Amino acid sequence: TVGNSTNIFWHECPIGKLDRQTLLNQQGCIVWITGLSGSGKSTLACSLGRQLHSRGKLSYVLDGDNLRHGLNKNLGFAPEDRTENIRRVGEVAKLFADAGLICIASLISPYRKDRDACRALLPENFIEVFLNMPLELCEGRDPKGLYKLARAGKIKGFTGIDDPYEAPLNSEIEIKQKEEDGECPTPNEMAGQVVTFLEHKGYLH
Ligand code: PPS
Repeated sequence: TVGNSTNIFWHECPIGKLDRQTLLNQQGCIVWITGLSGSGKSTLACSLGRQLHSRGKLSYVLDGDNLRHGLNKNLGFAPEDRTENIRRVGEVAKLFADAGLICIASLISPYRKDRDACRALLPENFIEVFLNMPLELCEGRDPKGLYKLARAGKIKGFTGIDDPYEAPLNSEIEIKQKEEDGECPTPNEMAGQVVTFLEHKGYLH
């Protein structure tokens, strides 16, 4: 028995992950970007995708907001829905990584246990990126006007306002405002930080 299914069997194909990696000349992995709404996750994801592309590496962005238009359109923002959202995206990210791609997932993914469950799916090739921008900054940006609505009580259970964001304790990469002047790194600088990490770990040979 697996989950709710009985009488199911795993079928192995002759062409596997290593064959695909050899063909593509790259190693699949999951770059998981977590952070508050308005912290710049999607911008970072796209910038990273562009930098990887120009280095000849195949990547694919799984963006929370976008996936909620399709795969996850039946989910809302109640805790159990977020958990299911993250679980699904973790599984899809694992498939993309298995296909040999650098899969960039950008979701708030506010609960530590859900992110850790995704990590457990591919522990050797999971890179957690904590986009650590303070709430005041994200709220000040408020690109979609959602913080305003949340403060006015028109959205209930908004992350950082009346729903928790559990910051990572052991992320591989943490992106913060600059110590010198408190400025935010540019999208390219942020992506550069991730690229440097991937380079050191041998993903960009
Ligand atoms: S989660 O928590 O990981 O399941 O969220 P995610 O799939 O990344 O979707 C986040 C985007 O949904 C919009 N939105 C909300 N965010 C947080 N809390 C509540 N209640 C909420 N309602 C709608 C919001 O635009 C988020 O977009 P980003 O890109 O993160 O700003």
